[in-house]
Amino acid sequence: MKNPPSTVSPVIKHARLADWIAQIAALCRPDSIHVCDGTQSEYDGLTARMVESGTLIRLNPQLRPNSFLARSDASDVARVEDRTFICSQKPEDAGPTNNHMDPVAAKEILTGLFDGCMRGRVMYVIPFSMGPIGSKISHIGVEITDSPYVVASMRFMTRMGQAVLDHLGEDGDFVPCLHSVGAPLEPGQQDVAWPCNPVKYICHFPETREIWSFGSGYGGNALLGKKCFALRIASSMGKEEGWLAEHMLILGIESPQGIKKYFACAFPSACGKTNLAMLVPPPGLEDWKITTVGDDIGWLEPNEHKRLLAINPESGHFGVAPGTSWKTNPNAMASLTHDCIFTNVALTKDGDVWWEGMTDEPPAELIDWQGQPWTPGCGRKAAHPNARFTVAATNCPSLDPEWDNPEGVPISAFVFGGRRATTVPVVVQAQLDKHERGLNWAYGIYLAATLGSETTAAAAGAVGQVRRDPFAMLPFCGYNMCDYFGHWLKMEERLSALPPIFLVNWFRTGPDGSFLWPGYGEFNIRPLIWMFERTEGGGGGEQTKIGYMPRYQDLSWAGVEWFSEERFAAAMAVKQEEWQQELALQEEFFSKLGDRLPHVLRVIKSGMELEFEC
Ligand code: OXD
Ligand code: MN
Repeated sequence: MKNPPSTVSPVIKHARLADWIAQIAALCRPDSIHVCDGTQSEYDGLTARMVESGTLIRLNPQLRPNSFLARSDASDVARVEDRTFICSQKPEDAGPTNNHMDPVAAKEILTGLFDGCMRGRVMYVIPFSMGPIGSKISHIGVEITDSPYVVASMRFMTRMGQAVLDHLGEDGDFVPCLHSVGAPLEPGQQDVAWPCNPVKYICHFPETREIWSFGSGYGGNALLGKKCFALRIASSMGKEEGWLAEHMLILGIESPQGIKKYFACAFPSACGKTNLAMLVPPPGLEDWKITTVGDDIGWLEPNEHKRLLAINPESGHFGVAPGTSWKTNPNAMASLTHDCIFTNVALTKDGDVWWEGMTDEPPAELIDWQGQPWTPGCGRKAAHPNARFTVAATNCPSLDPEWDNPEGVPISAFVFGGRRATTVPVVVQAQLDKHERGLNWAYGIYLAATLGSETTAAAAGAVGQVRRDPFAMLPFCGYNMCDYFGHWLKMEERLSALPPIFLVNWFRTGPDGSFLWPGYGEFNIRPLIWMFERTEGGGGGEQTKIGYMPRYQDLSWAGVEWFSEERFAAAMAVKQEEWQQELALQEEFFSKLGDRLPHVLRVIKSGMELEFEC
């Protein structure tokens, strides 16, 4: 793919941006430069060239109009957390949960790697806005990349192109985001479908607000607006400026009486965020309405009245495909019927896509995610477990009418959840009778800070081990985790009303290993309705050692009357031995965090140890 697409590049009127582009071009030495205008014709040109070069396969236009399949290199399939670095001047500012590199040393290594790394390729310049262009909560970035797949994906995931350049004007602020797949082409050298480099560095410089990413073309490693900017750099900007950048979906929930609220919900990667954000109320509860503002990231800022308002900085979904079906997530499936890029899913004989869980019965034959013939029972997965779809938010039928509102939407509750086979009940509110306003806020922060979850395929490495994933931000917090907890604690002063905090667990299993809570839209709506009632001052329940919990009679069972009180009790059980073990594991985590941990969290933990007679 040597020639830039035949569009007229926008003119850069911003001197600092023009200088940066020139400086990077001199370092990376691409064949040509293309500044993206974000138009449909630019996208069409890019995708057509990627089809020609073998990077994309055009899907059957009758079955999936304007849609494509990309197959990555088998070594480049997920975020690489062990190659992700926070390059703050002091290691303690990156903290004990991040990999740290000295910024000068990192720049030296990266400059060596980027030297000539775009030879034989086009260098694309992508001006993008995280959040509605012009919103007070939004911020602008410019990504330079040599991957046309990244350009096409960024067009879905961000507001990108000429309108952003216009908004930047001659001296607007932007976060420079530099990316290369790290695979220069020598003259005459044939390109591969998915160029990448075995050496990978995903580096963040919070003090200078820069991102340098080398070697990977996949997801969060390469679409730098997402995890790198909207979470790691933005979390550190938020700490300085008094706002929050969170790994949270934002959903709207509207009661049959027409009262509408918004919840911000944090879950670790691949724990059903997209499903929850797009939930369809089941029979019996169809007079409730759930709408989608975002499925992965929220930026939340108190306004002048100390009210917490949130935007989704993204404009598309980069969702996990396996497990997505018309049963589990009809809104996602409807979103995927056209104008979509699939990565690492299987290809059907008639040019459509398939992945595990899409249908009960797999097709009789497929081409798997690595391009090999596949039949059921061959012993391999047809789609990679971290296979993804990339699609515009506007394709989603449950899109909230306010999703693009530059003012943001008001947040009425926080929900935190992990994937836990034991210990954590389906739902509990972080509210203890003995606590005052501030201490209950701190207690919610303690529950979020000690969130545990089993690892999934979204990151390279072992799957299924419980790790502490505070606020579902472990791989995404751009600064010291203890200071991050401190920042959340401080939000108490910045808000007139504190949204209640809930902890949920959809993944608890019984002694035979089967799920106690059937989950998905049919069940997860019920705790959401209870939370809605709690924010209105209702919602029955009882005080337990870990907070306020609904009893069986406090949730609606409309349509699933078969779900027994005994099974509910098992899914909600707070067991002394499990919590003793849990608190011991939390102690390990707290010791790792060291002495910057806010004192109040230790005090709360000691209180829990007394409760559970540790
Ligand atoms: C994601 C992730 O891709 O969390 O959203 O890994
Ligand atoms: Mn995520």
